[in-house]
Amino acid sequence: MEILIERDAEAVARSAAGVVIDQLGANPRTVLGLATGSSPLGLYQELAAAVRDGRASLAGCRGFLLDEYVGLPAGHPERYRTVIQRELVDQVDLDPDRVQGPDGLADDLDEAAARYEAAIREAGGVDLQVLGVGANGHIAFNEPGSSLASRTRPAVLTQRTREANARFFEDEIDAVPRRCLTQGIGTILEARHLLMVVAGEHKAEAVAQFVEGPVSARCPASALQLHPRVTVCLDEAAASRLELGDYYREVRAAGPAAD
Ligand code: GLP
Repeated sequence: MEILIERDAEAVARSAAGVVIDQLGANPRTVLGLATGSSPLGLYQELAAAVRDGRASLAGCRGFLLDEYVGLPAGHPERYRTVIQRELVDQVDLDPDRVQGPDGLADDLDEAAARYEAAIREAGGVDLQVLGVGANGHIAFNEPGSSLASRTRPAVLTQRTREANARFFEDEIDAVPRRCLTQGIGTILEARHLLMVVAGEHKAEAVAQFVEGPVSARCPASALQLHPRVTVCLDEAAASRLELGDYYREVRAAGPAAD
């Protein structure tokens, strides 16, 4: 893993945006994997600024969301497809028709999951997947206990995740859906490059577990250790429980050839 420890959340956003902008420069037809939640918001704002300044373009890109709540109606402000529209698509030059998420309103959720996997495959797979991590180590909505080989599927949210996400639902836990459709861990690992964005002391334990702990379903994000190309952008607070933090800084200071 490439571990980039930055001073604060703003620096994390700039650093992560740099990774995305480099990718767009290398391949203007990049297939982007898009995460929701608060972690990537700064990155999306940096990308929007880059598009406004002519430093980047997403006009040739496609986007696939990581996950979606089950049952939130089309116009609901917290439906992930709506969130990504508001926070990213409306701010950049990405064609909304080229952005899709799992269909959380489908009658047959298993069939919708299979269709979503097929759509990602038909697009040629995800080139760069943006990720956040839950305080309990979840990625997308793969909660602890999820198979490391899992595929896109309906899943059940933990109480802890619903409590964490209640802040988006006016703190009404009952308004947070109990079920979701999520890309599986096996699906996520097929993306060519994974970009994890993390900030804050409340994520420090999850970071220590997924970067340096055992690879285990207990911490779904630890599956990233099995991927050959992962960049983790994190701030000092999120990095505070890493045992090898000094080494990651030395590697970075030594430059790219040192890896
Ligand atoms: C949410 C999302 C994940 C996200 C994670 C962390 O529930 N389903 O995709 O990465 O939890 O969220 P946040 O970035 O808001 O801390």
